[in-house]
Amino acid sequence: MTSPRSTADSFAVRYDSAPDGVWRGPGRVNLIGEHTDYNDGFVFPFAIDRSTAVAMRTRDDRVVRLSTDFSDTVAEISLDALDVDELTAGTLNGWSAYPLGVIWALRHFGAGLTGVRGFDAHIASDVPAGAGLSSSAALMCAIAVALNDEWRLEFDRATLARVGQLAENKAVGAPTGIMDESASLFGTRDHGVFLDCRSLDSEVIELGFEKHGLELLVMNTRVDHAHATGGYAERRASCEKGARLMGVPSLRDLDIDDLERAERELDDETFRRVRHIITENQRVLDTVRVLRTSGPSAIGDLLNASHVSMRDDFEISVPELDLAVETAQANGAVGARMTGGGFGGAAIALVSHDRVERVADAVLRAFSDAGFRAPECFTVHPSDGAGRVF
Ligand code: GLA
Repeated sequence: MTSPRSTADSFAVRYDSAPDGVWRGPGRVNLIGEHTDYNDGFVFPFAIDRSTAVAMRTRDDRVVRLSTDFSDTVAEISLDALDVDELTAGTLNGWSAYPLGVIWALRHFGAGLTGVRGFDAHIASDVPAGAGLSSSAALMCAIAVALNDEWRLEFDRATLARVGQLAENKAVGAPTGIMDESASLFGTRDHGVFLDCRSLDSEVIELGFEKHGLELLVMNTRVDHAHATGGYAERRASCEKGARLMGVPSLRDLDIDDLERAERELDDETFRRVRHIITENQRVLDTVRVLRTSGPSAIGDLLNASHVSMRDDFEISVPELDLAVETAQANGAVGARMTGGGFGGAAIALVSHDRVERVADAVLRAFSDAGFRAPECFTVHPSDGAGRVF
């Protein structure tokens, strides 16, 4: 596990001085509400106890230097190159597009870059990349909270979430929504972040997993996924088409009563995409209600139904995700579903404490029997959002 202390030590080795401080940004698990964020709908993720740590020290000049535990390259750039209205293609590449994109996006939201000093930063992370746990939001939120402090910007967390999203959309080129950054910034220990992606109003709601003897098991299929290309953008386009044909600003404006008309007016594929969004929004609302009234042991059917909808209607699952979900369900999980953008990454299962090992073993065995690459299974705990560690 990455510790903030060891990140500070690595900084000292690289830059020959102690950092001003260490900040962290957690990854996230989305409990329910998939692909609803960019449809102005509802999501219910939580921040996890795996995070990206950034040790930082400001410099006397305009240079930014970034190093990491996960790459040998040290990125170096002048703040002047980021002090521009539009980024030209090719200005930012590779992993450093995420942290450098945040600097550019802070400027977009009103941070003056002209008077600020550059910095050295060392980055370390224990959020697995490509697992659907939002290692990208973890990195961007860690940088955003660090610069918010170091440059005394005083942006609120909702703005920092929009900064992260803009950086991902414009600097990285992934057309993602606001969910991941919101989870990383608003997360609270033992709570989920219930977010209305239209108003951006959020409320933290107690999950009570520990109190009810439950664990959240992540089953990382290690099937890689990339949001900048392919299926994710296609699904987004289908949703926009569905909204246009249904005559609404976004799919958020439709509910269960509109399904009949949608089926009549849309082609089969667009209808199924639309049905996923409509029913998934309803499942988020139902999950929050059931949690409050009956506790986490009662939300299993909603998690299971969400997976079926992603598999059959939105078609973003893969055989490895389906196998993980089905095996967890068959071995006594309360509920299970794939999480994140899909096409790979991780599935989650809500499992009673004493069955975690049994479920994890069964998933490993099932993958081996199917000839799939061995998955990685581990539990995560709902944790606090991004901030300064010391
Ligand atoms: C990715 C994106 C999010 C969201 C999910 C799907 O994680 O980054 O904005 O759209 O996929 O729910």
